[in-house]
Amino acid sequence: MTTPSAPPAAVARPRIVALPGDGIGPEVVASALQVLHAVGDFEVDEHPIGAAAIDRTGQPLPRKTLAACARADAVLLGAVGTGTQNDDPEAPRPEQGVLELRKALGLYANLRPVRPFPALGDAGPLKPERTKGVDLIVVRELTGGLYFGPRARAADEAYDTCTYTVAEIERVTRVACELASRTGRRARVTSVDKANVLDTSRLWRDTVTRVAAREYPQLALGHLLVDTAAMRLVTDPASFDVVLTENMFGDILSDETAAIAGSLGLLPSASLPGAPDPAGGVRGGLFEPVHGSAPDIAGRGHASPLGTVLSVALMLRHGLGRPEAADAVETAVERALDAGLRTPDLGGTATTDDTTRAVLAAL
Ligand code: NAD
Ligand code: IPM
Ligand code: MN
Repeated sequence: MTTPSAPPAAVARPRIVALPGDGIGPEVVASALQVLHAVGDFEVDEHPIGAAAIDRTGQPLPRKTLAACARADAVLLGAVGTGTQNDDPEAPRPEQGVLELRKALGLYANLRPVRPFPALGDAGPLKPERTKGVDLIVVRELTGGLYFGPRARAADEAYDTCTYTVAEIERVTRVACELASRTGRRARVTSVDKANVLDTSRLWRDTVTRVAAREYPQLALGHLLVDTAAMRLVTDPASFDVVLTENMFGDILSDETAAIAGSLGLLPSASLPGAPDPAGGVRGGLFEPVHGSAPDIAGRGHASPLGTVLSVALMLRHGLGRPEAADAVETAVERALDAGLRTPDLGGTATTDDTTRAVLAAL
């Protein structure tokens, strides 16, 4: 078992830190907070992160923001980044804010569930018969690998280093195996790596194989190379149950799952310091949509807030120990889509506000 001690039961008035961030971040967080307030009594404090924080304090993750997140029962993040690149290696980058936050809070397990809404039918790029019945979850290692290894840039050379320790691989493997073992899942873990080329991937594969065989012999474990996995995710998504992978591969593959869901705007995520408590206790964590700050549509009021609203559902279920409220939010989103709600990413004309209203009405 990965749960070191039983998490406490739900607290009466949870303290939530909201980090709106940049681009569409503030738009989707404002919507999701309305939904949160509709399902319970929460204390919500907003703090800057990303480019918004650099503008105010010079740092992408100000000390006060981090301290507030560390004290909070759960954190809700919009997105960071301006979509522009600054080549000065000394200049602070908005994306550092979210990376430092994940690392500082020890959130090594990033859960990115994908369950297409039946109402969306052929609104996405894949044929409905291909996405029918898909219920998969990407478990992405979040605090290791290329994102955090030694790096440097010189005038005409640069490098990033991918490092993983056995302990880092073991703990995220246990999270994936715990999830695959739960009621409602199909007891199948597909580990994704590039073991035909990378030493980190060979260590990954050996470690995953050993942990699964010793501790979870009842699970069916498979391995796929990441290039094949990328192809299989769109040709046969229903064959996956739990997809376990390292940081960079998980980032890329989870955006690809937008093709299964119908839009990137629909995908939520939970970043946790371990497996979710099977008894539904409080775990804390960071909850954010899979998408970024979408500078191309920011400020127009038509970003889909549903990925963030569904991240609130994950926060209620895995962070705050309120599974009934989580179910209510997910059902409300489903009903709103059943009733025909479509933002432009799904081929419609609904605005962010229309979406918020439709979800609140369905609650
Ligand atoms: P993106 O995810 O922001 O956008 C990709 C495409 O999807 C765009 O066309 C965008 O309009 C669309 N899209 C995204 N979210 C949407 C939504 N809610 N509703 C409708 N359409 C939506 O990726 P990008 O453009 O490559 O990156 C922009 C910035 O966001 C970069 O600075 C990147 O680093 C950052 N980013 C941040 C996070 C995060 O904070 N967790 C995640 C991904 C990217
Ligand atoms: C995500 C984002 C981040 C990541 C960026 C903004 C650092 O793409 O959360 O998927 O790569 O982890
Ligand atoms: Mn990403």
